[in-house]
Amino acid sequence: MNETILVAVAWPYANAQIHMGNITGSHLPGDIFARYHRLKGDNVLMITGTDSHGTPVTMTADKLGKPVEEVYKSFHEDFIRLFQQIGISYDLYTTTHSQNHFKVSQSVFLALQKNGYLYRAFSKQWYSPSAEKFLPDRYVEGTCYICGYEGARSDQCDNCGNVLEPEKLINPRATTGDGALELRDTEHFYLDLSKLEPDVKKFLRERADHMRETVLGESLRKIENEGLKPRAITRDLDWGIPVPVDEPQWKSKVLYVWFEAVIGYLSAPIEWAQATGQAEAWREWWLNPQAKHFHFIGKDNIFFHTSLWPALIMGAGDGFMEIFAGEKASLTLPYDVPANQFMNLEGFKISGSRQWAVWGLEALAHYDPDAIRYYLTANMPEAKDSDWSWSEFITRNNNELVATWGNLANRVLAFCYKHWDGCVPAVDEKALRPADLDLLAVIENGFNIVGAELDAVRLRAALSETMKLATAVNQYLDVNAPWSAIKTDKDSAALTVFTALKAIDSLKILFAPFLPFTSERLNGFFGCESALFGEQFTQEANDSLGSHQTLRYKPVLGVQWKPSELKPGQKLNQPSPLFKKLETSAAEEERAKLGK
Ligand code: MF3
Ligand code: ZN
Repeated sequence: MNETILVAVAWPYANAQIHMGNITGSHLPGDIFARYHRLKGDNVLMITGTDSHGTPVTMTADKLGKPVEEVYKSFHEDFIRLFQQIGISYDLYTTTHSQNHFKVSQSVFLALQKNGYLYRAFSKQWYSPSAEKFLPDRYVEGTCYICGYEGARSDQCDNCGNVLEPEKLINPRATTGDGALELRDTEHFYLDLSKLEPDVKKFLRERADHMRETVLGESLRKIENEGLKPRAITRDLDWGIPVPVDEPQWKSKVLYVWFEAVIGYLSAPIEWAQATGQAEAWREWWLNPQAKHFHFIGKDNIFFHTSLWPALIMGAGDGFMEIFAGEKASLTLPYDVPANQFMNLEGFKISGSRQWAVWGLEALAHYDPDAIRYYLTANMPEAKDSDWSWSEFITRNNNELVATWGNLANRVLAFCYKHWDGCVPAVDEKALRPADLDLLAVIENGFNIVGAELDAVRLRAALSETMKLATAVNQYLDVNAPWSAIKTDKDSAALTVFTALKAIDSLKILFAPFLPFTSERLNGFFGCESALFGEQFTQEANDSLGSHQTLRYKPVLGVQWKPSELKPGQKLNQPSPLFKKLETSAAEEERAKLGK
């Protein structure tokens, strides 16, 4: 039975380059999961895009002294280059700054309003009379009313660590230099999350059998301890999505970035469907209760995905479809939120501002994508924080990826290519010996073992089970040593080489979700005509907001997640090594770049 799966990845903010922590936290696990399900023949849609709005982005633009539109686009285009180079196979990678996303977000807002989950209220906010505008919390600094520290942000003091009430700040000043500030009343829309608290709790408890304890426990505890409280879902800001209310005071306000960014999980499939010329195709994922939605995110985003997003979906009810498409239908809720913990770097927390980070594009300029993907998966922070260490990256590349898997594939293929005229030995499969059949049975069962780990989103375990199978093939070769047998008994060597090749041909599939570039090359060495994976390509999209670049993926259809059907006598192509051994001295050089 085919499954319908939405692979929804957290939308990266357009305010910093993407580093290894971001890649291993959400994009890579999403990609491995999507590739696995595509190989199984499931209906996969993997989407996200650049989170282009909000103060994180406007403040970065201010710092760079450039228009925010230019800044978001430049990060967006770098993200797309990175995902192409490291093979994150988004069916659509887009941006929240699109007309479609505006319309979908506003429709969700209106559905919540219609269903009685929104109310208006006033609060106090710092206002700049000279700039004639309210300043978002992050734009105001002053003296902390708790510890007296003079450089406190209005919503948080970095000295004493307390969360602050902005209106109590002493001597407030605008970080933008917008003169003296005064407190004024400002009106906002609030989402009455408290009304949805019972529904959110029920939603979470229904998923207790498959959600990670780190995610479920944290989400339920937060609700038990603090309850779900109303939250403002609009902001005084001029960059973002207009509040869909036709009254003058809303002209200078936009939807809160967290409110609209999560709605991207709905708007991106709609944009994808339009871009592929089947405008209604998104319904398969969104109006289908059988569809399973998986959210790949980092632990800092858990609340927004396990509580806020389901609350928005439940609160909008069938009202979204009514407003958006003129028909009543309700939307599919998330199935799982396999959030990851954090990856540190050489023992310290990753920090972009202190340059304590390994940037994706920078690393890809020096190392192959599959080498990076291997180490990030083997070290993925699934259950607890993990650490990127350059020397471990090099040793695991050399001792595991190269020694156990790369050399296995290369030495068997090269040996066969040389001694059997570039073809798989033309053995009689009925002549296979018990040891040959045993190995092939172990590998065949590997599809169940590795598949079960992948289904449960235990990607580290899935990779390590696959590596164990490669080790089993190495042990089989040590015992049967075709390199010496060939001198005395070429028929027996042929059976061994055939068996090992068939095992490697299966391992090519088992490794493919993790190591798509090298599995694809290996597929070519085996002389296979159809590719394992489809192509990534970029496409410009135009709408009334202007143009935005998108990254797309054209999948290969059909079931490929199955044991090798290698035929005796099949023609091979000239093989070459899959991976490179790395110099151990590189670790020192890489560490020297950190913090500079
Ligand atoms: N931009 C946020 C971050 O980088 C994540 C947004 S995920 C979404 O932390 F769900 F809001 F889209
Ligand atoms: Zn303080």
